[in-house]
Amino acid sequence: MFENKTEEQARKEILELVKEYCNKYHNVKKDFKPGDRIAYSSRVYDSNEMVNLVDSSLEFWLTSGRYTKEFEEKFGKILNVKFCSLVNSGSSANLLAFMALTSPLLKERKIERGDEVITVAAGFPTTIAPIVQYGAVPVFLDVTIPGYNIDISKLEETITNKTKAIFLAHTLGNPFNLKKIKEICEKNNLWLIEDNCDALGSKYVLDGKEYFTGTIGDIGTSSFYPPHHLTMGEGGAVYTNNALLHKIVRSLRDWGRDCSCPSGVDNLCGHRYDGQYGQLPKGYDHKYVYSHFGYNLKATDMQAAIGVAQLNKLDSFTKLRIKHFEKLEKGLKDLEDKLILPKAEENSTPSWFGYCITCKDGTNRTKLTTFLEKNNIQTRNLFAGNIIKHPCFDSIRNDYTKYRVVGSLDNTNRIMNDTFWIGVYPGMTDDKLDYMIKMIHEGIGE
Ligand SMILES: Cc1ncc(COP(=O)(O)O)c(C=O)c1O
Repeated sequence: MFENKTEEQARKEILELVKEYCNKYHNVKKDFKPGDRIAYSSRVYDSNEMVNLVDSSLEFWLTSGRYTKEFEEKFGKILNVKFCSLVNSGSSANLLAFMALTSPLLKERKIERGDEVITVAAGFPTTIAPIVQYGAVPVFLDVTIPGYNIDISKLEETITNKTKAIFLAHTLGNPFNLKKIKEICEKNNLWLIEDNCDALGSKYVLDGKEYFTGTIGDIGTSSFYPPHHLTMGEGGAVYTNNALLHKIVRSLRDWGRDCSCPSGVDNLCGHRYDGQYGQLPKGYDHKYVYSHFGYNLKATDMQAAIGVAQLNKLDSFTKLRIKHFEKLEKGLKDLEDKLILPKAEENSTPSWFGYCITCKDGTNRTKLTTFLEKNNIQTRNLFAGNIIKHPCFDSIRNDYTKYRVVGSLDNTNRIMNDTFWIGVYPGMTDDKLDYMIKMIHEGIGE
């Protein structure tokens, strides 16, 4: 087949075939019929993603390479942040963001074991897992309904001389009160990590300027797991405007090394053999000097290749998420005596991850979601509900040297019992949304 062809010609031919294959066998449009499965979310892609993936696999570089560099640069540019690091998941991104703040390079601002980090219990487990794993103390505040973000009314009184950081997710795309929280962080010299895994594309206006969420705090994180705003199968990113934090994130991501040469590149700075580090002999190979106890959390270039194609869709995806949210809002408005419908944070334009509903007294969440699931409409709880109630807390339960709760977690517990969410992802159609609206009405009437 490739006789008398250059490698470039052969690759072009393969990629043409991949494009044709994807267009013919994937994304085949099917009219929706009541009873067809309505996923809460899924990957949305076209032949560009598949072509990039195969292109990268033909190159067979496998680890981080040219697509990774392209993704990091383009993603940083879109978000308007100086530094971006691709990693292998959103959970890894959160781990790196948190562990970066424990680096000795931060001197007195370093988070020590036993220091406190303010967060919430209503969310995803890997926002708080790194805090516990390291031996810092998560301090849990309640959230509000229907914003589903931290209740800031007790935030300032929660701060002690041990508090070093605030680490929060923008729940289901709805930004938390960045204005107030940023102010409090600045006043009290606290780090702010924005878990932006469910909010990519959400915007927030601060002092008259619009920012993407994830870029206002010290570090932001993303997830590219398939249901998320963009996907590469597995993947994540850490971003920051702080050069020192970026240096630490890269070091921790890449085995803890001091050198910042990309994979496969040696001696970029020209000083590979003339430095003096720790107690090593002068001139010890900088490529093998370790300034942190690190990990390897890099993604592959195949993941990055998919991500590069997905980036072109961020804007259109965001518009669709907003449009779908608005349609559900309109269609469910008449149920407000039975359901609490979600509400966007002031000064924000959320790129919604989902449409979050809390059942009022008299409406049973599990009965309603069971009805919807039986009718092939996928539903999700608000992740952990209250993470403290989970078995992962059994070994530290009631040991308040390991975690702390300030005030009641009444809304958090209510979310655990009464809240669920449905999809608004770009793959939704008007037919599907109309059917969901109809079935929610029926389910409540049951
Ligand atoms: C708020 C939040 N943070 C972190 C994560 C973890 O991302 P990943 O699944 O890519 O590890 C998720 C996952 O959905 C999430 O919802």
